[in-house]
Amino acid sequence: MGLIYLDRNENQYGPAPACYQVLREANLEQLSLYSRAYATGKKSDLSDRLSADLGIPESRVLLSYGSEDMLKQAVHCYLQKGETILLPHQSWWYYKSVAKEVFGTEIHYSMKERGGLFVYDLQEIIDQYDRHHPQVILIASPNNPTGNSIGMDTLHRLVEHCALSVIVLDEAYFGFGGDGNGHIKTLLDAHPRMVILRTFSKYFALAGLRIGYSIVGRELEQLVAFSARYLGYNQLSEKIALAALDDPAYYARIAQAMREDTEMYFQEFSLIEGFTPFPSEANFMLVRYPRLRKKELKAGLEGYGVVVKFLDDPGLEDCIRITIGTKEQNVRVMEAFREVATGVPHLSTVTPEISQAR
Ligand SMILES: Cc1ncc(COP(=O)(O)O)c(C=O)c1O
Repeated sequence: MGLIYLDRNENQYGPAPACYQVLREANLEQLSLYSRAYATGKKSDLSDRLSADLGIPESRVLLSYGSEDMLKQAVHCYLQKGETILLPHQSWWYYKSVAKEVFGTEIHYSMKERGGLFVYDLQEIIDQYDRHHPQVILIASPNNPTGNSIGMDTLHRLVEHCALSVIVLDEAYFGFGGDGNGHIKTLLDAHPRMVILRTFSKYFALAGLRIGYSIVGRELEQLVAFSARYLGYNQLSEKIALAALDDPAYYARIAQAMREDTEMYFQEFSLIEGFTPFPSEANFMLVRYPRLRKKELKAGLEGYGVVVKFLDDPGLEDCIRITIGTKEQNVRVMEAFREVATGVPHLSTVTPEISQAR
């Protein structure tokens, strides 16, 4: 077994088998041709399908090259130089970079640690909104790297109060919690200045395709115009994404396996002195560890062929983010952590294959 990369929140199970089949059966002539979907009265087969699934007009379903691309488009569209963007202090690194791309002024709200988990603090967001009147507010649910989601009640109160801002709700990790799509229409009806970001990278295990989409509220016509793709989208990617959508049972199965392993990690890390795991609704888990042991832990895990993310974000310098892998990988990773952290080998559960890999 080679190195296990559990540092970038990729879905280690891979996509539904039908996605590979699309590639095997691909019409190669299509590579030279633009899409003619528009001749049938729709933007694309994929946005048409998503529109039907979500009950939102196709004109407000926008495809993008990953959700990173749509985040960039939304911020470039609505944030001018010197204007203010409100984003989570503990968040995906790109939020801060995208604000810098347009010379925006960043202000932050903090995810609060309460009762052993991270939570959104509605009052702090409201206070920041009242003080700074940000043009754009970023909310991530679940948030990377803290793993917590924002409750629907909190989100509704937030959008009601912050009605003048464009609110970007990043749902890149949507699905792992077994959640449905019911909230989308309700949210966008209540807040027509909201854009919801989704991706095929995480739940659907298609990060390499760079395919995402967003659903936008009625008042964001400027973003709809800004993101228009006059010559269509990547047709092969669209077909693969459609194949993924056609196999919900496969994805429900692997998400269930990941939830079981998230629970396993939580229980196991709780037993190791000095380690504190945080509950997660995504395909990763944040774990606090004794910071003075960083070098030793990093080297020890590398010796096991395990690569996880040692964070250096302010306030999270004593935390690791572990992507939830396959069952087999997770057993190996937990084994490695136990041995490196406690110095006690647990060879009984290490398979011969794994022993050789060391
Ligand atoms: C919170 C969050 N949003 C968006 C993305 C972007 O994912 P992609 O561009 O692959 O859709 C990531 C990637 O890790 C992420 O952590």
